Amino acid sequence: MNAESSIREPEKPPLIRNWWSLTGLTIAAGALFSFLFLFVLDSLARSGNPYLGILTYLVAPAFLFSGLILAGLGMWLEHRRRRQQGGAVSALVIDFSRARDRRRLAWFGGGAAGFLLLSAIGSYQTYHFTESTQFCGQVCHTVMEPQRVTHQLGPHARVACVECHIGPGATWFVKSKLSGTYQVYATWADKYPRPIPTPIKNLRPARETCEQCHWPQKFIGNLDRTFHYFLADETNTPFVVRMTLKVGGGDPRLGPVAGIHWHVHPTNVVQYVAARWDHGQWVPDPSRQSIPWVRFVDGQGVVTEFRKPGFTNDPARFEIRTMDCMDCHNRPAHQYQAPSKAVNHALALGRIDPSLPWIKSNAVYALTRPYTNLSEALERIATFLAAAYPAPDHRDLAPSVREAIATVQEIYQHNFFPGMRASWEKYPVNSSHMFWPGCFRCHEGRHVTADGKRRIVNDCNACHTILAQGYGEVLRQLTPEGQPFRHPGDEVDGGCYECHTGGL
Ligand code: HEC
Ligand code: HEC
Ligand code: HEC
Ligand code: HEC
Ligand code: HEC
Ligand code: HEC
Repeated sequence: MNAESSIREPEKPPLIRNWWSLTGLTIAAGALFSFLFLFVLDSLARSGNPYLGILTYLVAPAFLFSGLILAGLGMWLEHRRRRQQGGAVSALVIDFSRARDRRRLAWFGGGAAGFLLLSAIGSYQTYHFTESTQFCGQVCHTVMEPQRVTHQLGPHARVACVECHIGPGATWFVKSKLSGTYQVYATWADKYPRPIPTPIKNLRPARETCEQCHWPQKFIGNLDRTFHYFLADETNTPFVVRMTLKVGGGDPRLGPVAGIHWHVHPTNVVQYVAARWDHGQWVPDPSRQSIPWVRFVDGQGVVTEFRKPGFTNDPARFEIRTMDCMDCHNRPAHQYQAPSKAVNHALALGRIDPSLPWIKSNAVYALTRPYTNLSEALERIATFLAAAYPAPDHRDLAPSVREAIATVQEIYQHNFFPGMRASWEKYPVNSSHMFWPGCFRCHEGRHVTADGKRRIVNDCNACHTILAQGYGEVLRQLTPEGQPFRHPGDEVDGGCYECHTGGL
């Protein structure tokens, strides 16, 4: 044996063999593992979830990179140490005969296994959490507060946020990942708009969402609806309208294709252009509140076009939207009640005593003042109403006044969100015509065909039949053929929403 070779410097162990780098690599491996796990979970899930994107595409990679950086840092430290020791190498030699090495290795192995296990459990738990209504509504507490509260009080309280807001499939996968990640950034950076604007651009299409649970062909038939009102006078004069709402249906095998759901008959296509008159020209109306052009194509392909006077533009230059459930039911989950409606309801239920003079008008007044935050609102509602109905000789307020205050405060809490500037005023309701144009966007009687012979129906008994109206004895005499509406107080002319804003 050559002596020279035996004294040759021993081969240098790779720089990576140091505790820092090994820990870094373990973190990186754990993160990579979580990433793959989340990725598979998310791809297999029935409906995607945007917030999972943050975990999958932000948090896991962040750990991956920190792990890699730690590994690199360890290598650099190791390199420096070797240089400082004048090239002398103390390699990371693991000697199983040494108790210290055995202990260290056991700790390291145990730690690495534990870390992998925890990251698997953690990813899985977080995945479930991000799917929950609690996550959507509570984690983004202030931002989603209005939607969480109204969702809880609405008919869809038991339908999870993700059911309506996020769809399945590959395109949704990418779309929701991007927008969810952006939304969290926007919340963190305080960049979100107040209130959050509608219509929402990337809402799941109605055909996918609503029709999972609501069968569009179902024949709903007529609904019996009774509306209770109280006038804004001293005696809070009651007024009632009872009507048959002709919802009808859209499938000839199940019932006549007629009534309100006629628009969603599978072979009927109703399309429209949303545009408003602005500075001498028609510009697109993103809120879809002004509709100057409507086209209806029936099952035989016969096309009927209706225009509002003044709209002579080529509709093809605007976005042509096909009507679906959401064009009427645009507030299925988040209904911000108008103060007038909410107070009428509370009076009808006796939660506010109708014998308190001027209470309708006082309650609506208290609700419609501008307040900057909830506690200010609650306090000032109480002070205002207490002053309007003072207790004699500094005694306690009458129980009916206290109950009225509590009820008005509750109405405020459920329907007004000053932090997000969300309330009934900001979100149009399209399934009626009382406070917003709604059906009257097309049915106000001004949409006519080119020959002027046909007009979209506007008759008060076309969509509903007024069976009875007024108060007391008259409500017992129903007229199945319908009766003309008699406006309480003065005769009026014009669209209801032009005077009734909900704060009246
Ligand atoms: C039944 C379906 C459904 C459910 C469940 C649902 N939403 Fe909505 N959401 C909608 C529709 C429809 C809109 C309005 C779309 C439009 O006008 O463009 C909307 C609008 C919103 C908006 C925009 C602002 C607004 O008030 O219109 C936010 C934010 C929102 N939802 C969050 C949530 C959260 C958070 C949950 C769960 C707590 C939830 N949604 C549950 C259907 C739903
Ligand atoms: C996961 C199932 C589910 C989905 C998705 C769903 N709904 Fe519903 N919806 C229900 C149930 C259940 C009710 C009945 C609630 C009740 O009467 O308590 C209901 C009630 C309704 C009502 C009657 C409301 C009322 O005030 O009585 C309307 C209108 C409605 N849904 C429209 C929609 C629209 C529009 C969509 C799509 C944005 C939708 N739903 C999506 C399950 C669903
Ligand atoms: C032209 C407007 C319009 C369209 C389009 C429309 N609806 Fe309706 N729908 C109404 C009105 C108005 C009512 C009755 C009042 C209400 O509940 O708001 C109603 C009632 C309902 C009800 C409640 C029935 C009950 O028993 O309380 C459901 C559920 C419903 N619609 C689902 C749908 C679905 C799903 C679609 C889409 C396939 C759809 N609607 C399309 C206007 C419409
Ligand atoms: C985008 C425009 C548009 C909107 C919004 C709209 N409709 Fe219509 N509606 C039409 C057109 C177009 C017709 C067919 C008119 C014709 O054939 O003369 C129609 C027809 C009807 C009919 C008669 C159906 C039949 O039996 O022949 C009823 C009832 C009706 N609409 C109710 C409503 C109600 C209620 C709303 C609001 C919740 C509403 N519409 C909103 C466009 C609209
Ligand atoms: C295109 C269909 C349509 C026409 C035309 C129509 N309505 Fe209505 N009306 C509705 C719908 C839909 C509702 C909402 C019912 C609900 O909230 O459940 C409604 C609600 C009402 C209400 C109760 C409003 C509330 O929220 O308190 C009154 C009152 C009323 N209509 C009167 C009239 C009168 C008067 C006319 C004629 C000038 C008329 N309607 C024309 C569809 C129509
Ligand atoms: C020219 C303005 C104007 C128009 C248009 C109008 N109203 Fe009114 N309405 C009033 C006024 C003012 C009152 C009285 C307010 C009060 O005493 O509460 C009132 C009161 C009412 C009330 C009882 C009070 C309440 O709580 O709402 C009902 C119901 C009502 N209107 C329905 C309608 C309907 C439905 C239409 C559309 C067909 C309509 N109004 C159109 C001005 C109008």
